Amino acid sequence: MDFNKIGLSSLSDFPDLPTPPPYKIKMVEFTEIPPIEERRKILKEAGYNVFNIPSEKIYIDLLTDSGTSAMSDQQWSALMRGDEAYASARSFFRLKEVIHEVMGYEYVIPTHQGRAAEYLTFNALDLKKGDFAVSNQFFDTTRANVEVRGAKAVDLVVEEAYDLKRELPFKGNIDIEKLESFVSENEGKVKIIVLTVTNNSGGGQPVSMENIRQISEIARENNIPFFLDAARFAENVYFIKNRERGYGDRDLKEIAREMFSLADGVLVSGKKDGLVNIGGFIALNDKELYWKIRQLMVVTEGFPTYGGLAGRDLEALAQGLREVLNEHYLRSRIEQVAFLGKLLEKQGVPLLKPFGGHGIYLDGLSFASHLPREQWPSHATACAIYEYSAIRTVEIGSLMFAEKKDGEWIWPKLDLIRLAIPRRVYTLDHIFYIANSIGELYRNRHEIKGLRMTFEPPVLRHFNALFEPIE
Ligand code: F0G
Repeated sequence: MDFNKIGLSSLSDFPDLPTPPPYKIKMVEFTEIPPIEERRKILKEAGYNVFNIPSEKIYIDLLTDSGTSAMSDQQWSALMRGDEAYASARSFFRLKEVIHEVMGYEYVIPTHQGRAAEYLTFNALDLKKGDFAVSNQFFDTTRANVEVRGAKAVDLVVEEAYDLKRELPFKGNIDIEKLESFVSENEGKVKIIVLTVTNNSGGGQPVSMENIRQISEIARENNIPFFLDAARFAENVYFIKNRERGYGDRDLKEIAREMFSLADGVLVSGKKDGLVNIGGFIALNDKELYWKIRQLMVVTEGFPTYGGLAGRDLEALAQGLREVLNEHYLRSRIEQVAFLGKLLEKQGVPLLKPFGGHGIYLDGLSFASHLPREQWPSHATACAIYEYSAIRTVEIGSLMFAEKKDGEWIWPKLDLIRLAIPRRVYTLDHIFYIANSIGELYRNRHEIKGLRMTFEPPVLRHFNALFEPIE
């Protein structure tokens, strides 16, 4: 192997190899690397928005880890068992049983994906103007579902979460003092606490069991419903086992049950740790809230036993939830992500530490430090990564979160480029290709061109914005 290609001079510079995964590959999907001239043309046609790049023109797709995982042979077989009855299908009861087993909740409501679970729950809780929903950090759809109802979404993650270089084991924690004072200052107005595990917007960082327990106590004392946004619950559980004192010898399933027992329920996008391409659910113990949601959902999602999904989707999700707490799998997954982080770090690429559970987040402001923020340095870097290597990544920074007040931009603290790693999809060879390509681009970073926004959508700007390069 030519170590210089990855910007490392000898084998001794190499980080330890990650644990190999507990599976082998049964089916493959071909991909190719379009020639550089074609990639430049594609970027131009896409209006320099990575969401517009046709996926067949992408060699490695790190846009998201959501809905992009590979299903197992067991999941594909489960599809055949799907009971497509409109109401009270066998597949629903199978899913309910697995969720009860893994999470311990009584009531289960399937939804077509995570954001529908958010929409229904905030509706049923009647969030409105003057109300607050509090989180460590809301994910963008969760925030949008609070704010479309006129309520305010408040992030109370620990201050260290905004410091890219601080290496703390649980940077996804809520600041407990801030939570206590916010709740007491706004008595009766905090209608829900939603804890995102792991914290996606903050770099895939976990929340400790101790923090969850403290939040739970505050929620119970103040009679506030406490839900986990549990899209990446298994990765959070793995981090608790490996980083929190007292959990090292415990079984992952036991840790998961303890974590869920501290909350009143979960809002879940099954597209991450559910290991499926589509699907989500709400699970909870509150009978009254459950009945409210049941009645609301028939209008948009479908009958409460299928919630916008086919019976076969429910089967695949049930099987995925059974598979995901496999310790060997989680170790190889999280070590694979960290290995990419270490290869990039060794080449000096600026990034967020510690490495996240589902991806590596690059620091766009340092990567393209020659570009002013008005030229979207992180987004420009994401476009340059595609041009350079046919790898798609995504900006999670200014383009996604900056606000405009009286014509002036207010920039968010973090300006990142996320390399989200789909589950069970890419091999170590792919990881080397990613590390090599991004390392090389970093060494030539002065070539990254700034971008000018030519179309600025009023909401969820990043999905539809268009750009042109500044020559
Ligand atoms: N909560 C979190 C923490 C998420 O990361 C997502 C989606 C959702 C809720 C919404 O779930 O997509 O099933 O409706 N995250 C994806 C991502 C889109 O790329 O991080 P959904």
